[in-house]
Amino acid sequence: MLRFDNQTVLVTGGTGGQGSSHVRAFHAEGANVVIGGLDAERGAALADELGTRARFARLDVTDESSWAAAVPAAESAFGALNVLVNNAGVQNPPAAIENTDQATWSRILDVNLTGTFLGIKAAAPALRRAAGGAIVNIASTMALGGTAHYAPYVASKWALRGLTRTAALELGRDHIRVNSIHPGVISTPFIHEPAAGAAAAIADFYSPEPFAIPRLGEPADVTRLLLFLTSSEAAFITGSEYVIDGGLLLGPALQAETA
Ligand SMILES: NC(=O)c1ccc[n+]([C@@H]2O[C@H](COP(=O)([O-])OP(=O)(O)OC[C@H]3O[C@@H](n4cnc5c(N)ncnc54)[C@H](O)[C@@H]3O)[C@@H](O)[C@H]2O)c1
Repeated sequence: MLRFDNQTVLVTGGTGGQGSSHVRAFHAEGANVVIGGLDAERGAALADELGTRARFARLDVTDESSWAAAVPAAESAFGALNVLVNNAGVQNPPAAIENTDQATWSRILDVNLTGTFLGIKAAAPALRRAAGGAIVNIASTMALGGTAHYAPYVASKWALRGLTRTAALELGRDHIRVNSIHPGVISTPFIHEPAAGAAAAIADFYSPEPFAIPRLGEPADVTRLLLFLTSSEAAFITGSEYVIDGGLLLGPALQAETA
């Protein structure tokens, strides 16, 4: 018996660096997986590779009609929806607030915040029909502090904390748990490719060397936490925030000989 036998999991941004890791791991643990995303070619290739318990669903998280198609598609393919992972996200090109145009601000909030709101709204009735389930919203360590030149991204991820807690209160009596994960710097295209319009990628100026665990995070690090939080092992956990950052938020780890 595997941890997610007879469970159906929808992962948004499911073809991305972390999303595809989550999809593969849920599938390996027995789940039916719905790969929600924009990139039909990559999504179909991943679904083909995984086989009969996998489907790609074209899903733009900012578009309510896209959600209205994806959730019933998951239910009709596999009989129920048990887990939603709101993973899709975009970063803004780094810029001071006074140099950030409203279109950029709106685009980042639309994907990271409104996309998650629409996902919870669309999935909650299906999770209720399944007699309960779990939602995990992928936020960021940037939701726990300020980061210069990332105001739209930081604000969107902070807002997810309030949305997560509110959803946890509204859905708890229906046996639906809602939590957030706050990754630090994870090695995916997100940090290795510049945001649209940006000159440099985050990985070009971020060094993990000063931190307690001096390496970049890997998607699999986040996946392991996600699988725990969505499994029955986490049955008493809701409305909570899980940081996974190798000690980034602790600040630099000065060694005794240099302190
Ligand atoms: N990589 C990091 O260092 C890091 C750190 C903290 C949080 N995060 C968060 O982790 C999540 C996953 O990011 P990643 O690192 O895998 O990056 P990624 O760029 O590889 O993946 C992001 C995915 O989101 C998808 N996406 C973007 N807009 C979408 C939309 N409108 N509808 C559907 N899908 C859309 C992209 O197509 C892509 O597949 C994001 O929410 C990101 O904010 C990443």
